[in-house]
Amino acid sequence: MNHFSELIKRRRSIRKFTDEMLRPKEVESLMKAALMSPASKSSNPWQFVLVEDKSKLSQLSEAKAHGAKLIADCTLAIVVLGDSTTSDVWIEDTSIASTVIQLQAEDLGLGSCWVQIRLRQSADGEDAEQNVRDILNIPSHLSVLSIIAIGRKAQAKEPHDESKLQWEKVHIESYKIHKDESEKK
Ligand SMILES: Cc1cc2nc3c(=O)[nH]c(=O)nc-3n(C[C@H](O)[C@H](O)[C@H](O)COP(=O)(O)O)c2cc1C
Repeated sequence: MNHFSELIKRRRSIRKFTDEMLRPKEVESLMKAALMSPASKSSNPWQFVLVEDKSKLSQLSEAKAHGAKLIADCTLAIVVLGDSTTSDVWIEDTSIASTVIQLQAEDLGLGSCWVQIRLRQSADGEDAEQNVRDILNIPSHLSVLSIIAIGRKAQAKEPHDESKLQWEKVHIESYKIHKDESEKK
């Protein structure tokens, strides 16, 4: 199996990290990968805020109600922002950059997890994006897509199981309607 196929199979969401900080070279590799992500019309509408400060990580972990606690435990949070005033496909562009960061993290042997911020609320019903903007001094023309939490893995996860792939979602030449879908019509 070639290296990329192994990488894709091995990458899992990691939510527990050791306290060991990332090396500057590792952070540089992550950001190089992000900045080489493809973007529509090469407009590169993304911006990235790197956070290592424990108190800020703790605040970010409270920015939304569910699935963000792990940020308090990570050693680097990459907050992925997009400029919706200059790109109509900033969501696609920033999603690709988020994924590329996760794949580069795995290639470095680091663990990562995507934390969704766009369209999410805090425990008090506040807009999670606005909470992140307030914590990190982000101007209002920038939208917050995700926070990619990164660190050295403190949990082991099995790679993806190829025998469980949903091959029924792959259609050859034309879309094949499944029985349960025709009932939905
Ligand atoms: C768009 C998107 C949003 C996600 N949001 C969260 C999140 O807010 N919190 C979290 O713990 N995991 C989040 N995840 C991680 C998914 O739960 C995870 O990728 C999925 O369960 C598959 O597991 P795997 O990454 O180990 O293959 C998100 C993943 C994606 C792609």
